[in-house]
Amino acid sequence: MLIIVANVLVLIITLILLYYVSSGAPYLPTTDKNVLKMVKFAGMKRGQKILDVGSGDGRIVIAFAKAGAEAHGFEINPILVWMSRRNIRRAGLQGKAFIHFVNFWKRDFSPYDLVIVYQITHLMKKFQKKFEKELRPGTKILCNSFFLPDWKEEKKDKPLFLYTKMKGKNSTATGK
Ligand SMILES: C[S@@+](CC[C@H](N)C(=O)[O-])C[C@H]1O[C@@H](n2cnc3c(N)ncnc32)[C@H](O)[C@@H]1O
Repeated sequence: MLIIVANVLVLIITLILLYYVSSGAPYLPTTDKNVLKMVKFAGMKRGQKILDVGSGDGRIVIAFAKAGAEAHGFEINPILVWMSRRNIRRAGLQGKAFIHFVNFWKRDFSPYDLVIVYQITHLMKKFQKKFEKELRPGTKILCNSFFLPDWKEEKKDKPLFLYTKMKGKNSTATGK
């Protein structure tokens, strides 16, 4: 009986892990050094709306809010949502930094001026399609570690890649 229960538990945990990995990257925070680099690299203007797609413990949202953005994060893990909201309160950034407990695939990215992505290789093509469909021309996309497979970046300083959504089709990458 105990073996059956243990097997069922392992199966449930495996299914949950599979769901997480297929819908987005597991939690791996950006280093503090790279968070600071991102704020400078993105060239964001004060008052702009930024989005961290899969916001983890909220460190990027907090850094951009401190730099003058209206910063939003989408996060699916309830523990990380709780932690990041607590971190925002501790930093005194209520009203400037916001964490939404959502699956980012179900949300529209069009309201944002800068979209930040630290996800996983096999999902970058899917993100590229979502950006092509939803983002307004002029929107910046900042990718950490994993690049958009077919778009030419505006600038790069590994592990960061910065893109601008064009009015027509984005120019094609010629190799990384
Ligand atoms: C590599 S971590 C990046 C965390 C944070 N952006 C940073 O750079 O420190 C990826 C995050 O995406 C979240 N995530 C994965 N799939 C998601 C989904 N479908 N919707 C919302 N968040 C998701 C994970 O829970 C995790 O916190």
